Amino acid sequence: EINEQPQVLRHLAATTHEQVEQLAALISAADNVFVTGCGTANNAGLEAQYFFSRIAKRQITAVMASEMAVVEPALGPKSVVIALSQSGETIDVLDAVRLSRGRGARIVALTNSEGSSLYRTADMSILLDCGPERCVLATKTYTAKLALLLMTAHALAGDPDAGRRAVAEGALLMESKLVDGEDTGDMDRVAAGLTDASSMFILGRQAAYPLALEAALKVKEVSYIHAEGFASGELKHGPIALIEDGTPCLIFATDPSVLRETLAGAAEVKARGARTIGFSQEDHSEFDVRVPIHGAGSATCFELAVSFQLLAYHLAVRLGRDPDKPRNLAKSVTVR
Ligand code: F6R
Repeated sequence: EINEQPQVLRHLAATTHEQVEQLAALISAADNVFVTGCGTANNAGLEAQYFFSRIAKRQITAVMASEMAVVEPALGPKSVVIALSQSGETIDVLDAVRLSRGRGARIVALTNSEGSSLYRTADMSILLDCGPERCVLATKTYTAKLALLLMTAHALAGDPDAGRRAVAEGALLMESKLVDGEDTGDMDRVAAGLTDASSMFILGRQAAYPLALEAALKVKEVSYIHAEGFASGELKHGPIALIEDGTPCLIFATDPSVLRETLAGAAEVKARGARTIGFSQEDHSEFDVRVPIHGAGSATCFELAVSFQLLAYHLAVRLGRDPDKPRNLAKSVTVR
């Protein structure tokens, strides 16, 4: 399923023109827009906030489905709620949709399950069209959501072609990590150095921050190694106390507009003994190890995503965990 992602992205870029335009038009006419989901879907919503604000200069608010009540007073008939759910059956998402509908909001579903409860209940439904995702961990449905939301942000900015180009570039960037549809083993080499870790931290700034959250979720749910994603600007406000000699820190330093600040965070953790693994276009003295990133701009999110998905996969395999069926987790969470 990780390897299928370039194909999934190309398919979405080629087939969703109309739906993307319709969603952009709904957003354009709305007073306020919320994007909701759980777990990986919530992380996709958090990332979408950056797409919309940077590309379309439009603020949207991500809210995890189980906390939807916090935005209830802002919901009304001119609100749009975009619900993200692979299964379309996650009870917290269905509850959030019910609450939003009760306030008169328009509901848009992005789901991989045609005919699911979410698909049927929404005013507008867009299929992720990834084919079945059997692994308990969401991978291709995550990047499919990112692709659709990125294209929608570009459509809202009046340049839908740019969105399709960004997604096509994302597919190419993913292929730089997957030669002939198979991974190149680079992330296995990084995983080999992390199997002894009891804890790791993943740092990102701005659009790389929700990616850090998703990377940490992937690592923890499948390898059972404690992993936390942090906004690198928050380090000095608490998390830096956790850094010990040898603590692995992954640093997503792919955005030139915040590179200086991101590297300052890397220097801070390195000075306290962290083992730094930088994901970046160029090497920097703050990194002990570097994972080369080739992309620039918003398509970089796809290259980072496939990289950390492969890292989590290889960690799981090296530690003898089942990469498809982690303990204690279900593919579809239908209980509160
Ligand atoms: C993580 C993962 C979960 C799901 C979450 C929502 O890899 O799979 O965090 O993303 O349970 O599931 P859906 O998208 O079906 O609503």
